[in-house]
Amino acid sequence: MRSAQSGDVEQILALVGDRLDEDGVPDAAATLAGVEGPGRYVVAVDGDRVAAVTALWQDSVRVGPTVLPSGQIDFVASLAGYGGRGLVRDLMNMALARSAARGDLVQIMIGIPYFYRQFGFSYVIPLPTPYELRADADLAVPDGLEVREAGPDDLPAVRRLQDAVQAGYDVALPHSDDTWRSLASAETVRFRVVDDGSAMSGFARHKIGAGRAVGDGPHDITVAEVAAIGVGPVRALLADARTQARGGRIMVKDRPGAAVSAVLPAVGLRHQETDRYMVRVADPVALLDALRPTLSARLKASHFAHESGDLLVSYYRGGVVLTYAGGAVTAVRSAPRQQGLVAGGIGVPPDVLPDLVFGPHGAAGLEQLHADCNLGPQRTLAEALFPPVTADVLTFYVP
Ligand SMILES: CC(C)(COP(=O)(O)OP(=O)(O)OC[C@H]1O[C@@H](n2cnc3c(N)ncnc32)[C@H](O)[C@@H]1OP(=O)(O)O)[C@@H](O)C(=O)NCCC(=O)NCCS
Repeated sequence: MRSAQSGDVEQILALVGDRLDEDGVPDAAATLAGVEGPGRYVVAVDGDRVAAVTALWQDSVRVGPTVLPSGQIDFVASLAGYGGRGLVRDLMNMALARSAARGDLVQIMIGIPYFYRQFGFSYVIPLPTPYELRADADLAVPDGLEVREAGPDDLPAVRRLQDAVQAGYDVALPHSDDTWRSLASAETVRFRVVDDGSAMSGFARHKIGAGRAVGDGPHDITVAEVAAIGVGPVRALLADARTQARGGRIMVKDRPGAAVSAVLPAVGLRHQETDRYMVRVADPVALLDALRPTLSARLKASHFAHESGDLLVSYYRGGVVLTYAGGAVTAVRSAPRQQGLVAGGIGVPPDVLPDLVFGPHGAAGLEQLHADCNLGPQRTLAEALFPPVTADVLTFYVP
């Protein structure tokens, strides 16, 4: 087990091509390009053969005003013939240990049903709802708007549009510099931007799917991360996607509350999305300590702004005590294991804890969903500190 090196790239791509879907190879190639690329992968080698692979990116997740260092796992696979020997288990453990060692407070990923629960991940953040663009959708585009491919010089303006949309959510996963670079160079990705002659007013990330190898024929496009100033640029981006796809199927990912969301119901067919991003929190004490600015802001906006006291968040195997006074969470310390809620506080099992911070249910919703999630007498305070949150998360891989 070791970090990948440039000499492993060809074998990693062959392994990914063998075990992941058809987009895996160009996507992995984009992330492996450059000096830093292979070092973001760990491999299991048998002699000079790469037998299993796992990638670990460095990211950050914002929760309210707090930005948390995070790790993202992707491209997990073992070579046919090497399965069932614990290679991926060891690589996952190695990647997660590296993530913890560099200070990541959370890990996020998406993938094989159930598999990653074995490594402490829970299903938490809903995926954006996809709408299938109707072939007959009326997409009248306002005059003066031109849609074109983004060039390298456009990236700062693209990122400003993306940041402006993400600012509207409680939780957001901004792309790292590395991810933007990899996305911009991936064969399966196109950045389309709207230009009104003086400024950029819209952005969409296209994932080019089935049919792209055929050249000028129809190909499927997933339109994600639509970030636009008003509905005019959204219409321009969708009309452009229709031109680009040449009759292929177009799926557009919703962003509730953003301009694209106002357009989609009239032009697209809503599909069901039940998958979720998985989140792992190895050290709840460190996480809640880092989250003090966010918890304090919530406290300040609640009935508890002028009160003081302690709230025990027990995850049964251990716990965290939040001390609050004067509208701020002033201290966070660990608490011992306890059976039930003998010392008051709230009880949230460890596998539900990621949902308490990053999920759409909030403390009150989780109590309804899990028999071993209990809010006890400090329910109102718990609900103020841990409300349901909205999230804008889309990783390198577009599901
Ligand atoms: C899924 C995959 C990565 C597992 O690799 P592997 O080398 O067989 O994994 P390991 O031997 O390290 O298995 C680790 C544990 O997971 C279990 N496991 C393996 N595949 C599993 C699956 N699909 N679902 C649930 N558990 C699984 C193993 O039994 C083992 O547990 P155990 O030691 O308690 O028996 C591999 O089959 C693969 O490459 N699949 C295709 C690629 C893919 O779909 N990747 C997903 C990208 S997100």
